[in-house]
Amino acid sequence: MSRSLTALWIFLAMTGLEEQLSCSAESPLQLRTSPLAIKQSIPPEMQFAVLPLSAPAPTNNPSTEAKVALGRLLFFDPILSSTKDVSCATCHNPRFGWTDGRAIPIGVGGAGIGPARTFRGPASLPVLPVNVPSILNVGFNGLVTGTKFDPAAAPMFWDSRVQSLEQQVFIPLISRAEMRSDDCPENEAVTQAVLRVRAIDEYRERFHAAFGQPPDVAVTAEHLAQAIAAFERSLVAPRTAFDRFLAGDGSALNAQQQQGLQVFQEAGCPQCHGGPMLSDFKLHSIGLPDVTTHNRRQFRTPSLRNLRHTAPYMHDGSKRTLLDVLVFYDELSEAVTETLDGGDTTLQPPLDPLLKTLNLNPESFPALEAFLNTLSNDGYDQSVPDKVPSGLPLRL
Ligand code: HEC
Ligand code: HEC
Repeated sequence: MSRSLTALWIFLAMTGLEEQLSCSAESPLQLRTSPLAIKQSIPPEMQFAVLPLSAPAPTNNPSTEAKVALGRLLFFDPILSSTKDVSCATCHNPRFGWTDGRAIPIGVGGAGIGPARTFRGPASLPVLPVNVPSILNVGFNGLVTGTKFDPAAAPMFWDSRVQSLEQQVFIPLISRAEMRSDDCPENEAVTQAVLRVRAIDEYRERFHAAFGQPPDVAVTAEHLAQAIAAFERSLVAPRTAFDRFLAGDGSALNAQQQQGLQVFQEAGCPQCHGGPMLSDFKLHSIGLPDVTTHNRRQFRTPSLRNLRHTAPYMHDGSKRTLLDVLVFYDELSEAVTETLDGGDTTLQPPLDPLLKTLNLNPESFPALEAFLNTLSNDGYDQSVPDKVPSGLPLRL
């Protein structure tokens, strides 16, 4: 990019400085959008914006310190699984960017952590065919520029089939391959988990402190989900170089990274990967075979934040590195020309028309990768509790 263009961009960014940087007390979600994007032919809601510093909670589950601390212990405690050896953190491990570093996960019946996890014996349970999304910044799922953000309706999972963090908590507890196994019937999975938690004094005290009800009645499925959801909302990654750039610090991205940003925009990536999370949170078909139903279903655009810590990529974990992803998009841009211009119509569902402007050149991969790396910050919370109230080993 030419010097003068860079200067203009920086100038435009600076003139927006008096605008809201992130949150204010009255309007926690007034996003500061980037003047950079205004120059682009992308819809207003896909304009880049600085990520707020905290994720808003639904009105019926305000975050408190006691709730977040309790949710954190529950999240790391294997007591939630019927086999007492799988916690949420087995698959959403802070040491692997709050995912597991694997293409597809292994829940109950496995041993070891991250990429080294294997089945202890012959796999007797169905394998979960999808890649584990990171839960870093998950409290912002559904946040796009210019629309009202409702945490109670936040889309969860690759196909957005569940709404809100509170609702999501029950799914892994019930899932046979994740935390239930055959030790417990499906319709009892949540009740049994709650009973195991209620039997522990420290939990009864902590639920009492967090929810104000007497210790013997405070431990409920609803409160368990609310505490875990509150903890997940607290997992906000620190400001990235790209956020600082959007907020007016022109030196936050070097020349190569700025060039990568330009490639990203010219290739039409922000039409889906725009807004504060670099996701429109809509479902699209970008031509990957559907590993869940072999149906080529559509998948939710993943956020492009924190990618440095969350490989492998895509719903099936089929892309090992960012470079593999870019090679995929490069090949896709050729397929797009054929299919979207009225030729081959055999793809079901057909490729998303938004891919029409997709044009990539392998020469621009290094710059594009350099830009994508400005969306990560290594200083995210990687802490793990020393111990959990059940006394079970953390195995992390
Ligand atoms: C065996 C591995 C495993 C365990 C254990 C597990 N998860 Fe997950 N988690 C996954 C997978 C796989 C997905 C994606 C599933 C899909 O999209 O169909 C997921 C998705 C999620 C999501 C949605 C993220 C998004 O952006 O859509 C949240 C939130 C989440 N898990 C939280 C939890 C919590 C809380 C627990 C513990 C109660 C837990 N998980 C236990 C594997 C696991
Ligand atoms: C039509 C909307 C759309 C466009 C345009 C688009 N993407 Fe995507 N992107 C998606 C969807 C949907 C997925 C997930 C697909 C899947 O897993 O099956 C995805 C996945 C990704 C991933 C993997 C992220 C992860 O955590 O697994 C990266 C990286 C990515 N896209 C980068 C880009 C880049 C760079 C461009 C521009 C060259 C681009 N995308 C253009 C919709 C889009």
